Amino acid sequence: MRPPFVITVDGPAASGKGTVASGLAAVYGLPMLDSGLLYRAVGVLAQRAGLDLDDAAAAAGIAQGLTVGQLTDPAFRTRAAGEAASRVAVHPAVRLALRELQLSFARRPGGAVLDGRDQGTVICPEAPAKLYVSASPEVRATRRWKQLAAQGEAVTYDEILADIVRRDERDGSRADSPMRPAPDAVLLDTSEMTIEQAADAARRIVEAARARWEAS
Ligand code: CDP
Repeated sequence: MRPPFVITVDGPAASGKGTVASGLAAVYGLPMLDSGLLYRAVGVLAQRAGLDLDDAAAAAGIAQGLTVGQLTDPAFRTRAAGEAASRVAVHPAVRLALRELQLSFARRPGGAVLDGRDQGTVICPEAPAKLYVSASPEVRATRRWKQLAAQGEAVTYDEILADIVRRDERDGSRADSPMRPAPDAVLLDTSEMTIEQAADAARRIVEAARARWEAS
């Protein structure tokens, strides 16, 4: 029996993956999971509880208690939350605690769009459509800087570029579920693309995967 039609969209910070993923979810009428939000929530809630982000067991305790209903807090969208997320995301115990929630989403019979760093490699390697969205660090820093400025955060472009480079390094070098493309992911470099162009390119890639899936 063929697997549900799951689309995984992985890639580094501010690569455009969130926009691409939500565009695909709308086109195919699929529910979407922003897995980064889970790690952001764990990071922020751990900090609010006064915990040390390097304490794997403490952060895992927060992850175990996390429910989807808690994910709407705008504090999870801040620059600091991204950094806290990346720090707690290195702990295997945190990743394990968040695994079941992600798996149950990936196994929805009607399919889903999964956005993150390890969705195509670890959470749903059997997904029929996999994208790895990237862009140069400078382009990503510009995008993230505009986004955070619109949210009212006072931060410079250079600070954001440094954040992005540090987070790429941490996410890419951790032992558990490092950020990397699945062997069968299609790479989409959005450096020179507008939002519309990236969304169109992603849709063409997924159309081809969907045709193969329908024929399987
Ligand atoms: O939006 P942005 O790409 O900045 O971040 P995000 O997707 O919300 O992810 C925040 C952090 O969570 C990342 O830097 C990763 O360290 C971690 N993460 C992860 O380890 N695995 C995932 N599937 C998603 C996010």
